[in-house]
Amino acid sequence: DGETVHEMMAHKGGITYNDFNILPGLINFSVNDVDLTTKITKDIEIKCPLVSSPMDTVTESSMATVMALFGGVGIIHGNFPTAELQAAEVLKVKRFKQGYVMQPYCLKPDSTVADMIEIKKRYGYTGAPVTETGFVGSKLLGMVTARDFDFITMNSNSTADVTMETPIAQIMVPVEKLTLGNAADAPEVSIKTLKKCRLGKLAIVNKKGDLCALLCRSDLLKTRDYPLASHDSKNQLLVGAAVNTRESSKKNVELLVAAGVDIIVIDSSNGTSTYQVEMLRWIKATYPKIQVIAGNVVTRQQAKLLIDAGADALRVGMGSGSICITQEIMAVGRAQGTAVYDVSRYAKQFGIPVIADGGIRDVGYITKAVSLGASVAMMGGLLAGTTEAPGDYIWGPNGVRVKKYRGMGSLDAMEAHASSQDRYFTADSDQIKVAQGVTATMKDRGSCHKFIPYLIRGIQHGLQDIGAKSIAELRQNVDDGLIRFERRSTNAQLEGGVHSLHSFEKRLY
Ligand code: XMP
Repeated sequence: DGETVHEMMAHKGGITYNDFNILPGLINFSVNDVDLTTKITKDIEIKCPLVSSPMDTVTESSMATVMALFGGVGIIHGNFPTAELQAAEVLKVKRFKQGYVMQPYCLKPDSTVADMIEIKKRYGYTGAPVTETGFVGSKLLGMVTARDFDFITMNSNSTADVTMETPIAQIMVPVEKLTLGNAADAPEVSIKTLKKCRLGKLAIVNKKGDLCALLCRSDLLKTRDYPLASHDSKNQLLVGAAVNTRESSKKNVELLVAAGVDIIVIDSSNGTSTYQVEMLRWIKATYPKIQVIAGNVVTRQQAKLLIDAGADALRVGMGSGSICITQEIMAVGRAQGTAVYDVSRYAKQFGIPVIADGGIRDVGYITKAVSLGASVAMMGGLLAGTTEAPGDYIWGPNGVRVKKYRGMGSLDAMEAHASSQDRYFTADSDQIKVAQGVTATMKDRGSCHKFIPYLIRGIQHGLQDIGAKSIAELRQNVDDGLIRFERRSTNAQLEGGVHSLHSFEKRLY
């Protein structure tokens, strides 16, 4: 039944992920046995096909860290005010140690009890280090914990000497009385100290007494092994970062490489420009070991240009993203299913992996992208509402907790950052800027520590249903025509969704 992927794609007109189903196969293995190993670039193999998009409302160090812990990769966005700040995010991922908080929320000596109570309310932290400047990296002066201020919230009159305005310096435990960890020690040594002294938090300082990190008992209790984690040869987490095609981006590349970045993404809505080719050639000539993902492309001709110029992977998608309006405004783009299929088929001859970027609405879309030939799927919107995405939650209409999610080509992003303008071939001096994306919100999806394992398990179930024990087997059997596809009508699409119910609750995991 059905048809091969090649027959399906031979029909005229673009196909989206929604336009087809994959027909079921034989299940003769357990879902646990499904191997999702794949490649993100020519030389880098990872254990699951998940990549977070370089967008300023999606990927900074927290997202990149959790993506790598679960076997994917995060690409740090390029909209930082300075190249140094972007490189610092890469460093945070590279320096990640389990249980350590590298950027703990700090207070200054003149912060007040009210400030600490606000932090507890907002973030749930039960204590904070006090440093000279109020930031990590400056002299540690003491620690304040729940014990030092909790009573003030208990409506007790017996504490008139401590009020909401009392400076933290008066109630903190001063540094002389604290047990401290040493930044030069191996993590095991600090963990031992924390356990031996039965501490809730251990401040880690360097020789000068500057705060470097915080080791938290609660985080350690939560930590588990990450058997799929994406590591480099030094056993540090893998991380990527995006740059644009301007001459000034060469400084970003230099600093990113110095910080240990593994993958550079040349971020552009249309990868076939002379600027991109030049940047790609320059990076490959200057840093031959750095893997470069070029794009975005949607046709074989575009793919050829960038593969010939040295790309180690191609990012595919134009106008398919949830916040994109490129196809409407520019009249240019391509249906994502066809784009992924065509480019992957071409790139495969050269061993170049394809990143299916945009339009991943749910876990089944990842399985479809990989079935069409992509090696990994890149997600923006799907991850934008998670705890690890940048930005604070706000209360949206109807009491729903949301986070801001904006297109990199939205006026909002373009007005804020020259890098976003460059992605869409717009100059700072242009009086009229044409938006190619919108500003939106995404509902709270909770932490990636739960959401990513759900995505991974969902893809495993999908492959099991198709009858493929691994991504490698899936792609081979699709190519050989053993895995069958079927286009679906608009009615079939409606039938495939939830329907005919009075009301329903959608709990996914
Ligand atoms: P999803 O569907 O995952 O898409 O939210 C994320 C991808 O969309 C691209 N992107 C944009 N495309 N205008 C566009 O046409 C924009 O403003 C915009 N911002 C992001 C990008 O490729 C991203 O990975």
